[in-house]
Amino acid sequence: MSKSLTLVSVVGARPQFIKLAPLLRSIDRFNEVESNKIKHYTIHTGQHYDHGMSDIFFEELEIPHAEYNLGVGSGRHGVQTGKMLAGIEELLLELEPDMLIIFGDTNSTVAAALAAAKIHIPIAHVEAGLRSFNRRMPEEINRIASDHISDILLAPTPTAVTHLTREGLEEITVLTGDIMYDTVLLNQQLAARKSDILTKLGLEENTYAVATVHRAENTDAPERLEALLNMFNEIAENHYPIVFPMHPRTSHRLPSMLPDWKAHPNLRLIEPVGYLDMIQMLGHARLAFTDSGGLQKEAFFLNCPCITLRDETEWVETVMAGGNVVVGANPEKIMQALFQWKSRFQEEEIDFAPDIAPYFGEGDAADKILHAILKYLQPAVAV
Ligand code: UD1
Ligand code: UDP
Repeated sequence: MSKSLTLVSVVGARPQFIKLAPLLRSIDRFNEVESNKIKHYTIHTGQHYDHGMSDIFFEELEIPHAEYNLGVGSGRHGVQTGKMLAGIEELLLELEPDMLIIFGDTNSTVAAALAAAKIHIPIAHVEAGLRSFNRRMPEEINRIASDHISDILLAPTPTAVTHLTREGLEEITVLTGDIMYDTVLLNQQLAARKSDILTKLGLEENTYAVATVHRAENTDAPERLEALLNMFNEIAENHYPIVFPMHPRTSHRLPSMLPDWKAHPNLRLIEPVGYLDMIQMLGHARLAFTDSGGLQKEAFFLNCPCITLRDETEWVETVMAGGNVVVGANPEKIMQALFQWKSRFQEEEIDFAPDIAPYFGEGDAADKILHAILKYLQPAVAV
């Protein structure tokens, strides 16, 4: 490498810490053998700030603490994004990085992209090209805006490449595989050794389900949230006990929106769990019910059948491979999907493994991402 480079990653929300971890390992490995080391700084916007939504991931995944934390916190989209934009711009002007790295589709992602683009710092977007084709989702706006002002688009799946190609962005797109798959592979054994969640909650393999709900479309409409929670109660009573680590967005809304709702004793409402506990729980669960993007994929990687509580999914590969059924918040469709899965359990051994690599890569996405960044910044040097 001809000169040492400075890279800045901006993260802020739970899934972004999980995506950052393998990339930092790749940078460390690069620095072990190269004399011109990469300098890397992490800016944490402070979008997520509870210990269980932020620090726990830095600790468990051994991510060095962010050099900068903007402490932006929660707020309406405009207020939150605006504060981030101002703070990130100031830091980018000070650090003068060769490239900004952004992850996924949160307000932290788009704020960082806007800040960098205006001051001519090139941008690499990890997990580019995802589309739900639903512009009422804040994440869809964040994705489209971020992709169209980025300089390299690091696509996790062939479908993401297709979307970017259709939008005229093929020349700057690189298929890398999914970086969350890297994180699962790096931590699955560690989770088995370190997590005691199964014992703590008295859970036995293949006898329980895991649920998560945090999307605005589900948490901000009382009738939709109530339909989902009532379904969980019914399933917990008649089919599988459910463990439901509740995102703070949902636990804050629940008491005021549905003051009379009560959980069935088999529906275990718990605080958000750490990554290792989540991987351990999902890896041994019979089913996952979720509206999370990350969880849909991890369920697939860990061979856990999924029922997605959204009207569409960006992770269509999990559906195409037969690992995921998309049902929205419709009680009939949820029950139909549940019975479909139950009859499949009687007929066949569930095995998603053969479909992981063709859709999500080999678990080396972080190395491919770093390589693409180096190739962009120093085309004459990168191999
Ligand atoms: C954000 C992302 C979403 C991502 C999710 C991951 C946007 C627009 N949304 O949604 O794409 O899937 O993160 O989890 O960027 N809260 C706390 N403590 C925390 C963080 C949040 O109590 O540490 C509560 C606050 O009441 C806050 C609410 O959760 O108002 C929502 O947080 P926010 O970061 O705005 O959005 P998420 O729903 O977490
Ligand atoms: N996750 C976790 N504990 C929880 C819920 C989720 O560690 O209680 C992890 C999950 O394994 C995945 C990521 O957080 O890696 C997904 O984040 P989230 O569902 O908040 O956001 P999304 O992926 O939908 O953007």
